[in-house]
Amino acid sequence: MINETEKPEFWEKSFIEKQEMWGFEPSKSAVLTKDFFLQNSVKNMLIPGIGYGRNAQIFRDNGIVVTGIEISQTAIEMARKHYGTEMIIYHGSVTDMPYDTCQYDGIFCYALIHLLDSNERTKLIHDCYNQLAENGYMIFTAISKEAHTYGKGRFVSKDRYEIFDGVNMFFYDRESISEEFGKAGLFDITEVTENFPFFLIKCRKAMTKAI
Ligand SMILES: C[S@@+](CC[C@H](N)C(=O)[O-])C[C@H]1O[C@@H](n2cnc3c(N)ncnc32)[C@H](O)[C@@H]1O
Repeated sequence: MINETEKPEFWEKSFIEKQEMWGFEPSKSAVLTKDFFLQNSVKNMLIPGIGYGRNAQIFRDNGIVVTGIEISQTAIEMARKHYGTEMIIYHGSVTDMPYDTCQYDGIFCYALIHLLDSNERTKLIHDCYNQLAENGYMIFTAISKEAHTYGKGRFVSKDRYEIFDGVNMFFYDRESISEEFGKAGLFDITEVTENFPFFLIKCRKAMTKAI
């Protein structure tokens, strides 16, 4: 089910209007994650919020099988046009995970988690962790409170603001990262500057255990 807070029409409208709005180069975080995944022999991975696939291709070019989840049908069609039809992309909200029963060696989730509300973020972390194979890694990028947009827009709840067009964002610091990811194998937090200051959050599933 796609609920009100996720604003699917916002993303659908954005992709219709702005098309390949971030270009075709992968983000810095995707390049760093690709290096990390190759060092750790990741063979198959999931990208929740895959967009039109610009961050997927660098993994595929390096022999990793990528599966995506994306809320915008237009973005999925763009991904198919640019990168072919071989890659499985499930159409729907990450809040409805899981979409399959695969266990992935790696999960990379770029600039999506901060768009969700508290319960949805908890569920996403939980659902991703549960789809990780033993010794698998999941890497999230999330916006930092250092962003100049922090504190701007309508206050929604602690560290969460309506930034534009009804899109809410939760701004992270190290404390909230530890709170939300602490039980999901969190082992590293670094800072990475994309179009905004982001955190790169790394978690490992050391053994098969439910959280
Ligand atoms: C900030 S963009 C990042 C896109 C992509 N990772 C990239 O940078 O190329 C967030 C992406 O997540 C998708 N998205 C937003 N909310 C979603 C949800 N609840 N479920 C699945 N996808 C979602 C958007 O359509 C968009 O493609």
